[in-house]
Amino acid sequence: MSKFPDRAIAVLFSGGDSPGMNALLRAISRLGLNRHGVPVFGIREGYRGLLRAARRANRSEKDLFVMKQEIASRKGRWGLIHADQDIIMLDHPATSGIVGVGGTMLGSARCLEFKKPEARAEAIKLLKDLNVRALIACGGDGSLTGAECIMKESGIRVIGVPCTIDNDLFFTEMAIGVDTAVGTLVWAVDHFKDTARSHKRIMVLETMGAKRGELARLSAIASGAEMVITPEAGPVTMDQIQKLAESIKQGMECGRSHTIVLVAEGVQFEPEQYSQVASPDLPPPKRNRAYVLADYFQAFFQQQEGELKDLEVRPSVLGHLQRGGHPTPQDCILAARFAEQAWNSIMDPNEGSGITTLRNGRVQLVPFGAPDMPERAELSAELSRLHASLSTW
Ligand code: F6P
Repeated sequence: MSKFPDRAIAVLFSGGDSPGMNALLRAISRLGLNRHGVPVFGIREGYRGLLRAARRANRSEKDLFVMKQEIASRKGRWGLIHADQDIIMLDHPATSGIVGVGGTMLGSARCLEFKKPEARAEAIKLLKDLNVRALIACGGDGSLTGAECIMKESGIRVIGVPCTIDNDLFFTEMAIGVDTAVGTLVWAVDHFKDTARSHKRIMVLETMGAKRGELARLSAIASGAEMVITPEAGPVTMDQIQKLAESIKQGMECGRSHTIVLVAEGVQFEPEQYSQVASPDLPPPKRNRAYVLADYFQAFFQQQEGELKDLEVRPSVLGHLQRGGHPTPQDCILAARFAEQAWNSIMDPNEGSGITTLRNGRVQLVPFGAPDMPERAELSAELSRLHASLSTW
């Protein structure tokens, strides 16, 4: 049997992917090999892949032995081309050429089953059987909660690395993927502007951002979008929609050639607006926010007099386009810095588990469950005010 390492660290990516995850994987693997001489196991498809591997290895001593042999003998790209191998020992060729590639080459997944302690116990047993001394779990809110559970239940050191385009983790100034996603949205808005201007139209564009409107807000400022609607202020009432429509009207009357409205997907309406029931067994899905607003705005303009009556409103849901693409230099640099902090914390006997964060421009580890930075909420409010001042005609 090829030699199986007597200590290693493992890395996984969980939840929605974000640009920069590959740069992060490369940095974690390179720092492990070049600086610390510790091998890194890449786990495919996040907690789902870990659980799948655990169920295979935990069947018997022999299955565990075979898995160890597989990991030790099929390293790097050789392991990656075997789709049934969930845990791969990374080497330099395996992470070569991926720094600027979007998505995650290890794959990511949402794993509801991992919420169950029994499932986590299976995963923890495997990590211990494979001599894993530390786990680096990369993802958003739910993924970091999973990481915290493993930390508490296993005694293994766990480092969480914030990766999400939503920028909704308020214990850090920035997560990996935000900068790229804002750039993608600016690119998209520019394209919509070209056609909106040509037809003197109002475009309502729905951005990602399930809980907070950070992505929409930053993108609105950077792209010059005229209006941004985010979930933080609470459900949007029909009266408020009427006021928003009045404000679009006023801008168009002042001579605007078009209006771009960004609405975050997490916005709620009062009363809530649902799509047609797809099946009697399923709850009705919420109607896309862009479609709800576009219908109201269109109806509003149809009731106007003169040229305003002819103004057309078009909705678009930007969707997963926002999660793809080459990561920006900022995201790649942040990924490298977070990877370095993760390793520093793993190798320091006096450090514990925690989450890598950017605070006041400095990368630092904070404990799981650390409170939000009050500055983040203040900044959101400031940016909203700034956007309002920049976009009023
Ligand atoms: O959490 C990141 C995110 O992109 C959210 O903005 C969005 O609501 C969600 O993921 C979409 O998830 P999925 O890829 O599972 O449809």
